[in-house]
Amino acid sequence: MVHLDKNEKDSYLAELIELLKIPSISADSQYAPQVRETALWVEKALKNAGCTSTEIIETKGHPIVYGERMVDADAPTVLVYGHYDVQPPDPLELWDSAPFDPVVKPTELHPEGALFARGACDDKGQMYMHIKAFEWMVKNNQLPCNVKFMIEGEEEVGSDNLETFIVAAKERLANDVILISDTGMISNDQPSITTGLRGLTYMEVTLTGPNRDLHSGLYGGAVANPINILSKMIAQLHDTNNRITIPGFYDGVAELSLKEREEMAQAPFNLEAYKEEIGLGDVWGEKGYSTAEHTAIRPSLDVNGIWGGYTGEGAKTVIPSKAHAKISMRLVPGQDWEKIADLFEAHFHSLAPKSVHVEITRHHGGEPYVTPIDNIGYKAAYKAYSETFDKAPIPVRGGGSIPIVPLFEKVLGSKSVLMGFGLDSDAIHSPNEHFGLFNFYKGIETIPLFYKHFYALKKSN
Ligand code: BES
Ligand code: MN
Ligand code: MN
Repeated sequence: MVHLDKNEKDSYLAELIELLKIPSISADSQYAPQVRETALWVEKALKNAGCTSTEIIETKGHPIVYGERMVDADAPTVLVYGHYDVQPPDPLELWDSAPFDPVVKPTELHPEGALFARGACDDKGQMYMHIKAFEWMVKNNQLPCNVKFMIEGEEEVGSDNLETFIVAAKERLANDVILISDTGMISNDQPSITTGLRGLTYMEVTLTGPNRDLHSGLYGGAVANPINILSKMIAQLHDTNNRITIPGFYDGVAELSLKEREEMAQAPFNLEAYKEEIGLGDVWGEKGYSTAEHTAIRPSLDVNGIWGGYTGEGAKTVIPSKAHAKISMRLVPGQDWEKIADLFEAHFHSLAPKSVHVEITRHHGGEPYVTPIDNIGYKAAYKAYSETFDKAPIPVRGGGSIPIVPLFEKVLGSKSVLMGFGLDSDAIHSPNEHFGLFNFYKGIETIPLFYKHFYALKKSN
């Protein structure tokens, strides 16, 4: 049983702060040197923690960090996956402290303190728990399994190069289970294990009306304004029941039985607190489903950004030539991301009047994932959380996406166990992202128990 003393806690925190100071923003090519610096930092941390071999694996994009320690050819092998890249921190003005200058402050949900920085929870803090837990097991002679670490630098931009790598390195990556901390849990008094992730289709649309920006007095009323048209087209993507109108969009969507939905509804969820926390007058969503279901078992469609025309100071009278939007769809089992992209394209073109020309491009995507709870990976995680939280964890399907997880299953044939320790309120991808110190240390204490139970369950199987 892991018990961290004050010195250990302080030094782990100081190291994580060092890691969080490096701005590993994968989406912004200006930061490529810092992304590489972070990879080297992680490689060194793996070496110091007890990996007997490590490697920086070059890709067409940012490098992958690999490390391993083989204890016994007959022992089960755990592949730990995580990412050291982070989302861009903007809008910077909404941060209370600088995103790459970590500070510890208490919050309502983290009275013992939380570490504020971009990547604190997603995913540097959660990834680092694995390195520290591994170090603890090595140091205390309690590492029962072989371990392979694969920490990538392109999760936040779609993991395309990681996909290429895993296809090429199938044998090297052979494992009995994949262990990931890149999701959340219900609350600090109610642990949960993520059993599903949504898929993602991400499109970008550009509407062109007139061949140049026009004076809105000279032409207004006679020429279709691409922004007006785009708004109307977007508005048509949901019906009055807030269902998505793309023909065929729901075909194949796996419907849960009433019993499964009743079981899901057992997970604690406080609608008033939910609204309060994000400052909402009311929630929204597809008719016939609860808020918890909207983000877990139902697909969704959102505009992530929309722009065009004049957005500077003051007023400029103009009918813009172009209007743009980024539109994403979260998918559930039964949907295929490329097929959904095709359906979106056909439908969006069909909504366009002749007065505009529509161009559509697709960004990275990924398939949804669900894992049954009868496998030994889940059981080992269940036992581990039960011991450290003194409470049984609840299985929940998460609304976010980690596109590489379904590919792990397809390419490597392995199940992933999603042992998340973040909270939804930790503001990942938002200003003031943070990670509770309780959660960070609890993660480090829980992970070794996963190894212990996984080893025992595997041996008795
Ligand atoms: N760690 C998140 C995914 C996540 C967070 C899943 C919380 C479940 C609960 C991951 O880093 C992420 O942000 N994924 C992106 C997709 C990716 C292709 C950019 C997402 O979900 O938007
Ligand atoms: Mn992540
Ligand atoms: Mn993320």
